[in-house]
Amino acid sequence: MTATVTSTSAQPALASIKFPDGFVWGTATAAYQIEGAAREDGRGPSIWDTFSRTPGKVFAGHTGDVACDHYHRYADDVALMAGLGLQSYRYSIAWPRIQPDGTGPVNARGLDFYDRLTDELLAKGIDPVVTLYHWDLPQTLEDRGGWANRETALAFAEYAQIVHQRLGDRVGTFTTLNEPWCSAYLGYGSGRHAPGKQDPALAFAAVHHLLLGHGLAARELRSAGARNVSITLNPSVVFPVDPDSAADQAAVRLLDGLSNRIFLDPLFKGKYPVDILQHMSQFTDLSYIQDGDLATINAPLDVLGINFYQPSYVSAKPGSPGMLDQPGSYGIATRPPTGPVTDMNWIIEPAGLTHLLQRIHREYPGTAMMITENGAAYPEGPSADGAVHDSRRIEYLDGHLRACHDALAAGVDLRGYFVWSLMDNFEWAEGYAKRFGIVHVDYTTQKRVLKDSAKWYRDVIKRNGIGS
Ligand code: FCB
Repeated sequence: MTATVTSTSAQPALASIKFPDGFVWGTATAAYQIEGAAREDGRGPSIWDTFSRTPGKVFAGHTGDVACDHYHRYADDVALMAGLGLQSYRYSIAWPRIQPDGTGPVNARGLDFYDRLTDELLAKGIDPVVTLYHWDLPQTLEDRGGWANRETALAFAEYAQIVHQRLGDRVGTFTTLNEPWCSAYLGYGSGRHAPGKQDPALAFAAVHHLLLGHGLAARELRSAGARNVSITLNPSVVFPVDPDSAADQAAVRLLDGLSNRIFLDPLFKGKYPVDILQHMSQFTDLSYIQDGDLATINAPLDVLGINFYQPSYVSAKPGSPGMLDQPGSYGIATRPPTGPVTDMNWIIEPAGLTHLLQRIHREYPGTAMMITENGAAYPEGPSADGAVHDSRRIEYLDGHLRACHDALAAGVDLRGYFVWSLMDNFEWAEGYAKRFGIVHVDYTTQKRVLKDSAKWYRDVIKRNGIGS
């Protein structure tokens, strides 16, 4: 990899960079965030249908009922992707379209939709990357305990097998779960996401059953002949406010255990970290961890998906209640951002991504990785000239691509990069208030407009890098 300085302007010179041949460029979305058609063609209700209808849970009562109407407009959306030169597209399958009750009868019309979408992508030369679970659990399964119930893991493996049977001849990469941290801790710990439960014991049981569901599904996918099996995590990048403080370091260690090692160690080492098992036992007797589970979870992976948005800085603050999302983090406080932030108030610090990739490369050697999500929310819409001038998003993406490049130069096995997101969409508890797309969506007319960032990304893909 070579880095040459090309700028001659008065601005600080930024090197142009090239990525390795074969580096994959894509964008990502998720079913509930874009599809709409919530009651169409036999789709059953999901926990997000229920949650978004529960007063006070989602900004301004927004729901995914219509979203970007992608269910009907998928062909136009794929044409748009082709116009950007995208090589790959990461999308998720709505489990409630496939098995409206979570188990049992298969809804053929649901499978037909993903069949059409997949074919459309392939016809345009775009490689499909399928996520099986991006948070829209069938409500019937939640009614029986959701991810806190072991049965959900077994049901997930069955569902994975059904999807593979239909799409496996054309889809090269299957990702089991997207960000199980969010499903477990936001879903069952803080309750900020569906199903909105607030119970540490349920959150830890959910962590385990999500991992188990992943392992069982990975086994099914592998034995059915899937080429690439993956999982996507959103590891936290946690730094101490005072690197010289032993108490701040201890806070970092606990949070790293609760959010990262709790997933990475079972997946890659077949065991839970001892300190975290001890921590969990304050809340639960751990009886849900059964013999053989960890061997199942430790299934071989072809690639690890990494979603990264921001790092965080924490310090020990005796007496503070801790972080709602991380059970038992009493006495730990997060420092509010001190520098530039996005519209989510998320810290912009691309070096955090390099740090994360290098850390996984070092501590879990031999792991191939993909950035399956990275991006930024900014509110810009069409200006008087009709274009969307989202220069801050370009700057964010540019910085993070450079961070990826630094990791590659340090020897990290990074295979590709997917921008979150192709288009503005339903941003979970934030509803439609936060726009992450490189394509602008007018939710009244459903008109799509390429933002400047989309045009910039088209150029990055064409050059396989940034600059000349
Ligand atoms: C991630 C989610 C994705 C999107 C981005 C902004 O946590 O996987 O669906 O909401 O954040």
